[in-house]
Amino acid sequence: MAAQTGSLDSRFYQTADRFFAAQFHRALTFDDLTLATLYSEILPRDTQLDTQLAEGLQLNIPVISSDMDTVTESRMAIAMALNGGLGLIHYNMPERQQLSEVSRVKFHVPGMIQEPIKVAPDQLIAEVLKLIEERKFGFSTFPVVDAKGKLVGLLSGHVVKPRYAKRKIAEAMTPRGQVHTINKKELGKDPIARADKFFTEQPGIHKLLVVDGTDHLRGLFTMSDVERISHERREQFKPARDAQFRLVCGAAVSATRNAFGELDRERILAHVGGLVERGVDAVAVSTAHGHSKGVGDTVKMLRDAFPGLPIIAGNVTSAAGVQFLAERGASAIKVGQGPGSICTTRIVAGVGIPQMTALYICSRAAAKKRVTLLADGGITKSGDIVKALTLADAVICGGLFAGCPEAPGEVMEIGGKLYKQYRGMGSLAAMKAGSAARYGHAQDPTQKVAPEGVEALKEVSGSVDRVLAQLIGGIQSGMGYLGAANLEQLRAKARFIRVSAAGIKEAAPHDVVELKTGN
Ligand code: XMP
Repeated sequence: MAAQTGSLDSRFYQTADRFFAAQFHRALTFDDLTLATLYSEILPRDTQLDTQLAEGLQLNIPVISSDMDTVTESRMAIAMALNGGLGLIHYNMPERQQLSEVSRVKFHVPGMIQEPIKVAPDQLIAEVLKLIEERKFGFSTFPVVDAKGKLVGLLSGHVVKPRYAKRKIAEAMTPRGQVHTINKKELGKDPIARADKFFTEQPGIHKLLVVDGTDHLRGLFTMSDVERISHERREQFKPARDAQFRLVCGAAVSATRNAFGELDRERILAHVGGLVERGVDAVAVSTAHGHSKGVGDTVKMLRDAFPGLPIIAGNVTSAAGVQFLAERGASAIKVGQGPGSICTTRIVAGVGIPQMTALYICSRAAAKKRVTLLADGGITKSGDIVKALTLADAVICGGLFAGCPEAPGEVMEIGGKLYKQYRGMGSLAAMKAGSAARYGHAQDPTQKVAPEGVEALKEVSGSVDRVLAQLIGGIQSGMGYLGAANLEQLRAKARFIRVSAAGIKEAAPHDVVELKTGN
């Protein structure tokens, strides 16, 4: 009987190979299919989400933030790595700036405010009160530094009061000799534990200043941050770190051409050399058409110059594209042409493959070539991620993070609602800002170009921590339903079936008046 029911299930709920082979005439995306549930002894909270993308690049959650200029700079990359994922810093900025963005992530000390707000000894307390009022600071204690950044004292919140307004900071501050500091070098491998110990040993002191060997201010710990982080540490998914315990960080590079239209080898190598020096964990050769000579030559050149560097390359949607990039030395390959929420490639150029079919085809070539796959674009909900992870090693998301406070860009208010800008890297505005090469166009924005992305808005969302908590919860539920303890088991156990148009409607809330979304 069990054998009969098993074979009944397997006729309808098919393995990826059988399912996609049977659909060979039709390209499918996330909503076109669903996953069958299976006998499970796995509780969602016990599932493991770690994924190895390349030798030396291990993430604790399979989620990457997109290399887009409205999604990932250092702040986003830090938040992603702290949650166990990876951020890819975009390249629509001067090369020098991209280097320092990577440094910010690599030198980020969790809990340490790297650039604390400082005041100068000859300022008046009145100026500090005004600063607090204007910038809406929720704190009133400030390190005092001289014109060269050297620490000269600490202005305690106890004296930042209107009654002292006319006094100079130098008269009211705690002088340097009485200020508690620690040398950055003494923070060791676990700065939070070190700061935590300090606060226990010094009752009543809530701020610890970090200085370098020449007494210049390098950072600040507050007791409340340290307590919050110590608490979070007990959480399941640890930050993604390199072998030296620094947060991981990726950076996108473009296949830049020189004035003669040739690949600008020297410039690309010099820049990637700089990124490697700063400790970058992966570079992503990001283009709209990865199965092309320029991208292949760039990947090969980087592989020859940096044999151990994880190289992400793309984007492709064919087995031949995966094979091509793998043979040139890519470690992880981005799959996705046109699925992105701000993409118009399919409309403008008439090309691109719906994401689940593209992922299936690419996954079979990736397995042969022993490279990993990243599902890039089109993900709007955690269920999409579960489906993508049945064929890929991690997902790349843009739109899901573009509304977070950690994404670059200002918040704007329209009709009482708050929004942030989100634009395609192939939109005219982004190409003008530098990303034209990604879409194979000349850098000169005055030339006629056909944009392949739109400029849009995203409603402001919660922090990356909150967005990821929702997504991770969803992925873990999906794995629980399939009885998969880890991502390898998810890939092995996944069974697929097509969904009808009515089935898609049935899957979303229906026939109710919705008062609250699930988030
Ligand atoms: P989501 O759906 O997460 O997609 O917002 C993000 C991914 O979309 C790709 N991307 C583009 N694709 N035109 C395109 O065709 C564009 O202007 C564009 N900008 C970004 C990219 O792969 C990103 O990770």
